[in-house]
Amino acid sequence: MRILSGIQPSGKLHLGNYFGMIKPATELQEQGEAFLFIANYHALTSVTDPVVLREATRDVALGYLACGIDPARAVLFRQSDVPEVTELTWLLSTVTPMGLLQRCHSYKDKTAKGIKPNHALFAYPVLMAADILAYQSNVVPVGRDQKQHVEVTRDIAVKFNEQYGEVFTIPEPEIRESVAVVPGVDGQKMSKSYNNYIELFGDEKETKKMVMRIVTDSKGLEDVKDPATCNVFALYRLFASPEEFSAMEERYRAGGYGYGDAKKALFEVMMDRLAPFRKKRDELAQDPAYVEELLKKGAAKAREEARKTLAKAREAMGID
Ligand code: ADP
Ligand code: TRP
Repeated sequence: MRILSGIQPSGKLHLGNYFGMIKPATELQEQGEAFLFIANYHALTSVTDPVVLREATRDVALGYLACGIDPARAVLFRQSDVPEVTELTWLLSTVTPMGLLQRCHSYKDKTAKGIKPNHALFAYPVLMAADILAYQSNVVPVGRDQKQHVEVTRDIAVKFNEQYGEVFTIPEPEIRESVAVVPGVDGQKMSKSYNNYIELFGDEKETKKMVMRIVTDSKGLEDVKDPATCNVFALYRLFASPEEFSAMEERYRAGGYGYGDAKKALFEVMMDRLAPFRKKRDELAQDPAYVEELLKKGAAKAREEARKTLAKAREAMGID
């Protein structure tokens, strides 16, 4: 089984990235060959400063490795080290209906927010389809926001296969419902674009500040509280053991336990569970040559696969 996913280096990694994508990928890497990459071509649709892009690219690489992606099992690489995907994007775009891209929520949301779209933003899902199809991926672990893009990929692959013969494996998204949408401090989806995120590797002071900003209802200390509708609880449950989870649930239902207490407990459990990742990241950051070497090795492997798929697609289309 081939597992594939990517993260754009367009800002700091946050809890949504970890629970929605990185953690499922660390579990899936035990079941098959995982291809994980840093989507720096995609990031060009929002990051225009080359210094920032390089730094964020390094950050995502360190993040994957620190959070448990095992380079002995998984293939880790930069998207741009496999330029075959850009050629494949063009081939795929010839079977991609305009309407399919016009219906994409993420494109519509961005334009609705006033972002002036360029062609890359519009064509973004076709590049994502090329990422997935180039490696004949079976499973794509992502958060719910990316589900539609994987469906677009499936549509493109089916259309191509119908027209030119069986070239591509049809992938399945893998979305863990319990973590499909990790809430941000304002209760909306946690996202780099909403400024409501808690960083995975942020410093302690900043992390505490963000935890204290989590929006709650206005119930007083003595009131009975509902864990099911509370943003603090929603984040707490991601980190807590089953025992800690039940104990917190009881405290909410019993009353006499304030949101300030819950935030403090969340901050503590978060720092505790993230500590090994932070330590690993600090160690890896000391050895950029090692990380670069891994990325190069990963790219060579990924490229070999992408070349094979591209050759098949070209031949099927009569470009050979
Ligand atoms: P952002 O929305 O912050 O820009 P990305 O689009 O770079 O995040 O997401 C990278 C991966 O992390 C994707 O698989 C995405 O689905 C997942 N992800 C991002 N935010 C969340 C969230 N709040 N909950 C669950 N998964 C998320
Ligand atoms: N679009 C994805 C995101 O913003 C990143 C991405 C690019 C990706 N190519 C991919 C994810 C292929 C999964 C598979 O999160």
